Amino acid sequence: MKTQKSEAVLKFDGREITLPVIIGTEGDKGLDISRMRKETGLVTIDPGFVNTASCFSQITYIDGEKGILRYRGYPIQELAAKETFVDVAYLLVHGALPTEKERMDFSSLLNRNSLLHEDMRHFFDSFPQGAHPMHILSTMVNAMAAFYPNVDVHTTARNIEHSCARVISIVRTIAAFAYKKSIGEPIVYPRHDLSYCANFLNMMFDSPVRPYHISPEAVRLLNVLFIVHADHEQNCSTTAVRAIGSAQVNLYATIAAGISALSGPLHGGANQAVIEQLRMIQADGDIGKFIRKAKDKDDPFRLMGFGHRVYKAYDPRAEIVRNECEKYLAATGIHDPLLDLAHRIEEIARNDSYFIERKLYPNVDFYTGILYRAMGIPENMFTVMFALARLPGWVAHWREMISDTTKIVRPRQIYVGRTLQKLDDGAERLPADLLV
Ligand code: ACO
Repeated sequence: MKTQKSEAVLKFDGREITLPVIIGTEGDKGLDISRMRKETGLVTIDPGFVNTASCFSQITYIDGEKGILRYRGYPIQELAAKETFVDVAYLLVHGALPTEKERMDFSSLLNRNSLLHEDMRHFFDSFPQGAHPMHILSTMVNAMAAFYPNVDVHTTARNIEHSCARVISIVRTIAAFAYKKSIGEPIVYPRHDLSYCANFLNMMFDSPVRPYHISPEAVRLLNVLFIVHADHEQNCSTTAVRAIGSAQVNLYATIAAGISALSGPLHGGANQAVIEQLRMIQADGDIGKFIRKAKDKDDPFRLMGFGHRVYKAYDPRAEIVRNECEKYLAATGIHDPLLDLAHRIEEIARNDSYFIERKLYPNVDFYTGILYRAMGIPENMFTVMFALARLPGWVAHWREMISDTTKIVRPRQIYVGRTLQKLDDGAERLPADLLV
């Protein structure tokens, strides 16, 4: 799958070494420096890994300059239009879209693993009122290894298969239970007769006094939203999953690390931050003031939902979500003034040289919150929705990582602290009875 067509020469300290240039299937070029430190004593310095490919992967392809995103070779636009989230999850985890039999088997595995161990339900009572659901989610997922053992990387293929399905399925149950707990309503158990997305909506919104009518349009929309979030190669949370997993930590602890990384406002937490920011701008009424703040280098304010490490063109996911926004709001007759405001901000930013020169476009988070609001999902659940959707991606990367010969992730550093210091100044620093 990877080829080496050329090499680069590094001259250092009067010596010369040649380094292979590896070319991926879509033409990505990478300088292979794996021999460099041994042969020259040099390491590379790359804060934020802006120039570093941390692995070879067959899962997701992104061309940030052209705004291309493909899972296992399939364009995101086609998957979002034609596939279900469960099929896309299968595609990411197993490498190919399922046959009819594989689909039935996978769905049944997800169903069988959708129930949360009853003893884990009591955990919800211990969280304080108002705890953020992302904190609850990462804690609960981390605790799963205690209830569902046999999840280490050396277990059988069957155990791995079950654990992967369990984590994809059960996180949805935990998320809905956390929400019900936060509003003081009884939990709703998963149902075997409902599809993945319908089941989640039902667990979120059904109540003994107000039966939930599962809207096919909401199910379709959730499918699309989950598909566009399902993977995004080596982003911060996936890198966390691969890094933590490389220490052969169990699958659940690994996924809990991914959830924690995703919660940050510069990553998955941005969808909640966008809505909070839109509301703040709406209350103030002066869009220009916030655009000026975003451009001011002395002001830490950033336009949330704008910019991306990889995309220097319109994020293809943002385009899909933006279109879905128009469709869903029109179909449901909802008028959200925040959507009008978001459009105005996008228009201003896209005509402003600051954003044009830095190639800052709306990212996937800019419009998702508006859709979640329209579906009745509370703001503190937005990032949880992202986490549910990202589960197949994290699982796929974990599986790829453990089946690879990858070493434990352990970067180097350039030490810039004090040089050797001496303590032989005669001063006594410890109490005499602790001195040996
Ligand atoms: N508002 C204003 N200026 C911005 C923004 C923004 N949202 N994003 C980047 N910039 C500016 C930076 O100040 C910098 O300007 P400079 O070159 O004059 O110093 C330049 O654009 C490049 O930005 P970096 O921070 O170097 O880009 P990086 O790749 O490190 O960061 C990130 C990407 C974190 C997404 C950033 O664009 C950002 O903070 N965006 C807002 C938060 C957000 O929407 N996050 C969600 C990302 S998508 C996801 O995780 C699912």
